Amino acid sequence: MIAIYPGSFDPITLGHIDIIERGAKLFDKVIVAVLSNPSKNPLFSVDQRLEQISECTQHIQNVKVDSFVGLTVEYAKLHHAGVLLRGLRVLSDFEKELQMAHTNKTLNQEIETVFLATTKEYSFLSSSIVKEIAQFGGSINHLVSANIARDMYQKYQNK
Ligand code: PNS
Repeated sequence: MIAIYPGSFDPITLGHIDIIERGAKLFDKVIVAVLSNPSKNPLFSVDQRLEQISECTQHIQNVKVDSFVGLTVEYAKLHHAGVLLRGLRVLSDFEKELQMAHTNKTLNQEIETVFLATTKEYSFLSSSIVKEIAQFGGSINHLVSANIARDMYQKYQNK
């Protein structure tokens, strides 16, 4: 079974990597799919994010990194995936995630959403929190992989 792990990944955090590692044990292949959505005004371009994610998932054999535009279920169908993988951190995630899962189910009944409970050390972690800390010069070394910390440091230094 192929699983799609869709998201913004702006940037990818250790919490995301944890979900990818665990998902890769459950499914034959996990495709990390970066949504290309310029209206979100991302910190990193899609190409930068693809490179970053490839670097920090290179230790996992059955992971592919890609980007997409449009509907996640359409992308999943195109790649013969039967599962959308998402992490659930806290109760407040649940409402949005359930809405997305139900919406996706109405769009394609064949595709299931599978949630993995985020490892508790990362349950507070989000890309937004990482950006906020980095922006004010705080350490993010315990929250992201070394390549991301380096890229973020460079980004905010140049601003
Ligand atoms: O990392 P994020 O920002 O929480 O990921 C959200 C994402 C990319 C999974 C979601 O916005 C998405 O699937 N967008 C693509 C458009 C789509 O398929 N919409 C219908 C489902 S709500």
